Amino acid sequence: MSKNKPFKRAAQAPYLPSSPSKFILYCLSTFRGWVALMLILETGQAASSILVPYAIKAIMDGAAQLSGTDLSISVLDSLRYPLLLLAGLNVAEIIFSRASGAVLIIMGPRLRQRTSKSLYAYLQYHSPRYFSQHFSGALAHRISETAVSVNHTVWSILCDFWPILITFSVSTVLLFNVNQGLGFLVAGWVFTYTCFSYWLATHCQPYARDYAAMRSQVNGKIVDAVTNILNAKLFARLQFERAHLNQFLDNEVSAARRTFWYMERVRWFQFIAAAILKVGTVYYALTLWDSGMISVGDFTMSIGLALLIINDARNLSRRFLEFFEYIGNVANGVITIVQPHEIIDEPNAKALAVSSGRIEFINVCFGYEPNRLVFDNLNIIIEPMQRVGLVGFSGSGKSTFVSLLLRNYEPQIGQILIDNTDIQTVTQDSLHEQVGLIPQEPSLFHRSLKDNIGYGNLEATDEDILSVAKLAHADDFIQTMSSGYDSLVGERGVKLSGGQRQRIAIARVILKNAPILILDEATSSLDSVTERIIQENLDAAMGRNTVIAIAHRLSTIAHLDRILVFDQGRIVEDGTHDALIAKKGTYFRLWSMQAGGFLPEENIQ
Ligand SMILES: Nc1ncnc2c1ncn2[C@@H]1O[C@H](COP(=O)(O)OP(=O)(O)OP(=O)(O)O)[C@@H](O)[C@H]1O
Ligand SMILES: [Mg+2]
Repeated sequence: MSKNKPFKRAAQAPYLPSSPSKFILYCLSTFRGWVALMLILETGQAASSILVPYAIKAIMDGAAQLSGTDLSISVLDSLRYPLLLLAGLNVAEIIFSRASGAVLIIMGPRLRQRTSKSLYAYLQYHSPRYFSQHFSGALAHRISETAVSVNHTVWSILCDFWPILITFSVSTVLLFNVNQGLGFLVAGWVFTYTCFSYWLATHCQPYARDYAAMRSQVNGKIVDAVTNILNAKLFARLQFERAHLNQFLDNEVSAARRTFWYMERVRWFQFIAAAILKVGTVYYALTLWDSGMISVGDFTMSIGLALLIINDARNLSRRFLEFFEYIGNVANGVITIVQPHEIIDEPNAKALAVSSGRIEFINVCFGYEPNRLVFDNLNIIIEPMQRVGLVGFSGSGKSTFVSLLLRNYEPQIGQILIDNTDIQTVTQDSLHEQVGLIPQEPSLFHRSLKDNIGYGNLEATDEDILSVAKLAHADDFIQTMSSGYDSLVGERGVKLSGGQRQRIAIARVILKNAPILILDEATSSLDSVTERIIQENLDAAMGRNTVIAIAHRLSTIAHLDRILVFDQGRIVEDGTHDALIAKKGTYFRLWSMQAGGFLPEENIQ
């Protein structure tokens, strides 16, 4: 995207930032109070665990003072305050940690919900071109992965890095108070260890990324193979498919090994660094004690703090690495989904009100890619309530014509008017409400048949649904299904035959009752008898509409008011069936060549 081009967003979509860190802040924006509470609780928890060695120091010092003094005072009495401090710290640690667990439970699922919800709402306003370029499964996966990763990123910061920062800084301060040398020793270690852990994590990142890529590749291969399992069976290629998958599994194994060996090296570093800190602190503190510079309590506290630091710092590289991975996932999700919307409503877009249904294409130039035009200066007027048939060879631009009218794509040059209003100036929702389309390959929701038909009008009653199903000749087969209108249709409607799916699509459009009706091969999968019945019902139902019907079977459209013949994006003939037959041009040739009612595959001239 060029820099001076503004980032187009649909006004109805949430205003999502396109950088991962800002996106995470956006998701967190409604949880500010909870985040602050979480920081306080985590601070409390970290502080109470660091102060335990301090309480032990007080006990040790107290006990050391007691030895050799009057033993009539009970040890417990004289050490009451340090002991109470120790008990109090332990109670505080429990309370803080469980309270932060509770906040996590309250906030976690809601944060995920907010992320998924906003990404999904943003995704909805992308154009058909966007959806043709991205796999739907991959998009769904991206949304859920991004939502999980936003949570993990936030938890990493709140529950890992923040407490570690508190532990490191408070213990360094405590040790500086005991002895400057000890303070420097631990501060130096912490600094070196953190930097080196970070460095190791960045160097491990390419391996981890490679491993993740291999995992997702294997996943993709399995999905592709399972989707095409019937092909594999029909060609007796099950063994071949196993061998094919095995290559990718092997790659995954090598990538996994490379990552794990690297992590193993990181662990060597961690163990050695921990040993150095432990032995170093013990040795140094011992020499200080020996020379009387620190008390026995200080000595114990130093050891305790060193152990605490080692405990917290364990797996710091791994945490960095995981953090990079989460951020990377969020970045991937944001880069894929938070793209500019290609087709948006103008700021002051009005609702389209169709009064007569006149359609006009003025000087329309359009290509899916700008350098490969499908239409070059197309001009056509379809009069109100005219019923027009579009015919022409496969790839001649009939479906594209319809897509432009629905504003699924926008022409590079020219205008498309409905009732003298440019469709680019009206809201897409209002345009789509006024146009009913039965697409070339209708797809259904995996919901009940009733829900699928009722989609045409959410307020329709059961009787309405029944009556349109009858008009679309769908009632007969629905009644024979085990759950009738409540039957589920499978993904995209796979449990229905092609013709049954078409009839459901027809029923739902009749129910929608829009003033402009478009049929793109709406009855192509039906037998001639059923087609004729539906045709009559459709003719009756669409009496008041402007109709555009595309058909390869010319008998389907021969009776319409007007026929437009498409050839390579141009309208080469325009007239009634009789006029075009009399003209003895392309349409006449097509009509005479129809063997059994279908167009021949190739243009035999
Ligand atoms: N989504 C798309 N992206 C890129 N090119 C496309 C896309 N859809 C169609 N085309 C191309 O545009 C041209 C016109 O296609 P269109 O689908 O409009 O033809 P059609 O007349 O409806 O054909 P058919 O009778 O086979 O349905 C073809 O060359 C086709 O390859
Ligand atoms: Mg088509």
